[in-house]
Amino acid sequence: MRYIEDDLENKTILITGGAGFIGSNLAFYFQNNHPKANVVVLDCFRSGEKLSNGNLKSFGHFKNLIGFTGEIISGDINDKDLLLNLEVNYKFDYIFHEAAISDTTVLEQDLMIKTNVNAYKDLLDLAVKHGANMVYASSAATYGNAESPQRVGREAPQNVYGFSKLSMDNLSANYIKDSSISIVGLRYFNVYGKNEYFKNSTASMVLQFGHQLLAGKNPKLFENSDKILRDFIYIEDIIQANIKAMKPKKSGVYNVGTAKARSFQDIVDILQKELHTSFECEYIPNPFIGSYQFHTEADIETTKEFLGYEPAYEMEDGIREYVKEIVRIYEEEVK
Ligand SMILES: NC(=O)c1ccc[n+]([C@@H]2O[C@H](COP(=O)([O-])OP(=O)(O)OC[C@H]3O[C@@H](n4cnc5c(N)ncnc54)[C@H](O)[C@@H]3O)[C@@H](O)[C@H]2O)c1
Repeated sequence: MRYIEDDLENKTILITGGAGFIGSNLAFYFQNNHPKANVVVLDCFRSGEKLSNGNLKSFGHFKNLIGFTGEIISGDINDKDLLLNLEVNYKFDYIFHEAAISDTTVLEQDLMIKTNVNAYKDLLDLAVKHGANMVYASSAATYGNAESPQRVGREAPQNVYGFSKLSMDNLSANYIKDSSISIVGLRYFNVYGKNEYFKNSTASMVLQFGHQLLAGKNPKLFENSDKILRDFIYIEDIIQANIKAMKPKKSGVYNVGTAKARSFQDIVDILQKELHTSFECEYIPNPFIGSYQFHTEADIETTKEFLGYEPAYEMEDGIREYVKEIVRIYEEEVK
């Protein structure tokens, strides 16, 4: 679905992290709905390099971009020469900045701050030089265990990932004061949907439970999963927020969620209904007690007011739309 009138003819759009989950969905949004726009995807893709938590350093995957016909650049946002090349040889009208260490469990603080914060500053400078409006990915992780509903101004990050995203927001506030471009940070809550499979173990629990069920396994939930609530948001609503953030009424940081908290038990129950299964759930002790978000629910009043954002997907709707893709990925990649 198209979210703005402008057909974006001859506009040049940079999507960093475009081979990842959210970035690739943005790339296809423009290709399908604004075919006259020039879309440039920048991503370092995966190299196989792992970090100390055993996960990949970057999750970008070419399969997320099969069918995408715009320009693709393989490069690292930490590479100053690459950014200079972008500054000199392109003229961007919009930058969607999704590239990041997106794994919330990464422990390398140096790499996290360098990639998520310092490289973002260089991209902000590029945006200012080009007069490009900036839309960047912040995160609900900035709130840590802050009480629900989470509201901008009540941040309490619990890990270096959340801290890095909050630092991006603080940096943006300074740029907003003295630049003429618009700058919008979107604090995504828990996103699920197409193209998340290559995030491996960091993909949403919607996909992971879906694949447990398709493998004929009893879904494994933490004890009291009916009381662990999160604001789960479908990728299509994330795209809506990004597109509406291209011309905001006001620059700033906005929550992107559904404003509804749903349980992990709900996910499994909805999936079982859609997949026509009835496996018994197994409940295991939660090893993360103490460092775990038990209730998230986005306050989206300002997002509605200043971006015109209105979530369109209840979890039932999102999973119903996504389930075919969960099966396809299982058949083609897992089995
Ligand atoms: N998915 C969620 O639930 C969620 C929630 C809150 C915030 N976010 C944020 O949204 C953005 C997109 O997340 P995602 O879920 O699509 O994750 P993702 O890991 O699929 O996408 C991030 C992309 O950035 C690329 N990348 C990483 N380091 C890079 C570098 N140095 N140079 C160039 N590219 C690099 C990766 O290869 C990957 O393709 C991230 O900034 C993430 O922190 C995501």
